[in-house]
Amino acid sequence: MATTRAPLPRFPHDFLWGVSTSAHQIEGAADERGPSVWDAFTALPGNVKDGTTAAVACDHVRRYREDVALIRDLGVGAYRFSVSWPRVLPRGSGEVSGRGLDFYDRLVDELCAAGVRPVPTLFHWDTPLAVEEAGGWLVRDTAHRFAEYAAVVADRIGDRVPKWITLNEPAEHTLLGHALGRHAPGRQLLFDALPVAHHLLLAHGLAVGALRAAGVGDIGIANSHGPTWPASDAAEDREAADFYDVLLNRLFSDPLITGRYPEVITELLGGEVPDLDADLETISRPLDWYGINFYQPTKVGAPLPGTGPTEFSGLWLPPELPFSPRPIEGRPLTAFGWPVVPEALTELLLTFRERYGDRLPPLVVTENGCSYEGLDDQDRIAYLDGHLRALHEAMAAGVDVRGYFVWSLLDNFEWAEGHGQRFGLVHVDYATQERTPKASYGWLRGELRGQGPRP
Ligand code: NOJ
Repeated sequence: MATTRAPLPRFPHDFLWGVSTSAHQIEGAADERGPSVWDAFTALPGNVKDGTTAAVACDHVRRYREDVALIRDLGVGAYRFSVSWPRVLPRGSGEVSGRGLDFYDRLVDELCAAGVRPVPTLFHWDTPLAVEEAGGWLVRDTAHRFAEYAAVVADRIGDRVPKWITLNEPAEHTLLGHALGRHAPGRQLLFDALPVAHHLLLAHGLAVGALRAAGVGDIGIANSHGPTWPASDAAEDREAADFYDVLLNRLFSDPLITGRYPEVITELLGGEVPDLDADLETISRPLDWYGINFYQPTKVGAPLPGTGPTEFSGLWLPPELPFSPRPIEGRPLTAFGWPVVPEALTELLLTFRERYGDRLPPLVVTENGCSYEGLDDQDRIAYLDGHLRALHEAMAAGVDVRGYFVWSLLDNFEWAEGHGQRFGLVHVDYATQERTPKASYGWLRGELRGQGPRP
């Protein structure tokens, strides 16, 4: 049953509204590109909950015109998608696929013709398998291969792309992909995964250089962030929450924004990085804006003595970690089991402002959304409405936020969850590929009209 809601507060007239997707999660046409770590990972039984792969996903490579029409009709001004590295360079470096680049060329043209700004992300976790076989993100060389790839993409679509994102969520790629093994490439290195974070950050810095050299601008990055709340006031819980805050937030935002790692990270990295200062200079090359993906806060306490692995958001965390996440009670949960806490977004944005002061670039919320079943998705409307009000509150308190992108346009391949978690404003019937706008799509379209004309 639809609830009557007050319209959203007014956002600035040049505020950038958008929707987000990523290549591996929607494109399909897997046989027309090189293999990625996700193809290898999903081929192994047990890695994906429902046993599906993204070989077809939303078949977007063939249906992109229909998808662009949905974006246009929604009334947003921007579309954040990702470019698949192995579609452009099937082996990660060397030979460029003309067919792969042609696809992004057509997509960008279609978006421009629809009056929608293309906002490509250069890396959304689909490392070419050949790059992985050469050591992947554990080796420094991958950062250089990535910057070369960035230059190839900029050279082809840079003339029509007004806004760029280097990486998506290096934190999740490090944590889920390399520390815990829940995502591709499935490594379980715990703290030995730290060099992955460093090489991803270095790749970002080198790509910023490559993009600027190619003459394109308005460059940012999309990082996942969230408040980390201590389970209690006890010193050991506070300490555990602070440490988790370092891993989830500051490990990435500190070097990008201040050019320094938190002390504990420098200690943990030890002598592994030959010239850390020079790398940090590359990593902290000035950004035009900083993207935040926000879904939920985390409550964290000291490790619980004598317990085995703890389950958290579908993840099994080993007992030897120096923290243990705790449930946030008394809140509605999404279909994924994530607590809905809109005011945590206000808190997060205010914390960024406080932590980094005038060094903080303008912010953009590059992802926010939720998974729910059904076409009459009143829960999704409530989630988005709540988070947009929370965002507005942070802006009213002086945080400079320039845009907001919903995750996601379409239901899609949700990584280790397979097709079981639906984040779309638009429902996808995977048997027929039929797209059906959900109630949330209509709600957002109405709200955007209410915001008045856009530049
Ligand atoms: C963040 C990731 O960037 C995206 O790929 C994923 O689908 C959403 N979170 C939801 O889990």
